[in-house]
Amino acid sequence: MAFPKQVRLVEMSPRDGLQNEPGAVIATAIKTGLIDRLADCGLSHIEAASFVSPKWVPQMGDAAEVMAGINRRPGVRYSALTPNLKGLEGAIAARADEVAVFGAASESFTKKNINCTIAESLERFAPVVEQARSHGIPVRGYVSTVMGCPYEGDIAPGQVATVARALYDMGCHEISLGDTIGVGTPLKAKRMLEAVAAHVPMEKLAAHFHDTYGQALANLYAVLEEGVAVIDSSVAGLGGCPYAKGASGNVATEDVLYLLEGLGIRTGVDLHRLVATGNWICQQLNRHNGSKVGQALVGNCD
Ligand code: HMG
Ligand code: MG
Repeated sequence: MAFPKQVRLVEMSPRDGLQNEPGAVIATAIKTGLIDRLADCGLSHIEAASFVSPKWVPQMGDAAEVMAGINRRPGVRYSALTPNLKGLEGAIAARADEVAVFGAASESFTKKNINCTIAESLERFAPVVEQARSHGIPVRGYVSTVMGCPYEGDIAPGQVATVARALYDMGCHEISLGDTIGVGTPLKAKRMLEAVAAHVPMEKLAAHFHDTYGQALANLYAVLEEGVAVIDSSVAGLGGCPYAKGASGNVATEDVLYLLEGLGIRTGVDLHRLVATGNWICQQLNRHNGSKVGQALVGNCD
């Protein structure tokens, strides 16, 4: 299988990146500043906010203010997480261009993350998907723990395929496969993808890999070879799920972009601007830059 000629990068840093930041709640102006800078880099799809319970995820408690404060750039899709109808209501009021429901292939993780079983989560998502679509809003579906669960260990590829298919059949236009705790390796990634692609068309799948064990780029290379052309990533490698102990950040967007450029794959994203954005957000948060490319090019991209 040849590599795709073009890849769509879905930028996770304002949501997955910031939801798990320890300490004080990050100022809304920093979040909107990040989102506007990311749009200026040429990213066409930015997960900007999360309409979840602020008791569960305090960092995302200003989702409505964030959505109201960004300078919407034409052609950019600003999306938000919506775990239930209450979340969807908030996202519609905030004019999200896309929403996302998020389930998992593991029962224990589903319980910890959204306080229900897998079957209950699917029942809960069905009206969310239906109502979003009736408002003309496309819905993305996430499947977490696709290569391992912090509570159950190994996850069978067939279990991932079952949940992915249920979300696709429900009307999700794209299914993002999350290695939530970054434990996957390339062969495992290929086997998991093969199982899912038997039920959901390859062009409807996205890879969402965290980099806990430093395998995310290798895993992405493996799934690119199989035809995946949508990649979730986070500038400066920000990120992690508060309900997945030990989960580190998403793979860094700068590192993914460098890899893709080396393979001759187009994205429409400007690497130098992206590196400057990664350095900017790390300065704002007083945090280490988790992107190797960001570190290598620091000083060249201000
Ligand atoms: P629950 O406690 O079972 O829900 O939580 P509930 O319906 O009983 O409501 C409890 C309270 O929350 C009520 O308020 C509701 O109004 C409120 P109270 O009466 O106590 O004052 N509430 C809400 N408030 C705002 N927005 C809402 C909302 N819903 C209820 N949408 C619930 C269930 C799903 C709400 C909760 O478990 C939750 O918010 N979980 C979110 C966890 C989360 O955000 N995790 C991180 C994102 S997933 C991720 O990072 C993985 C991913 O990146 C992929 C990967 O890496 O694998 C996507
Ligand atoms: Mg994630």
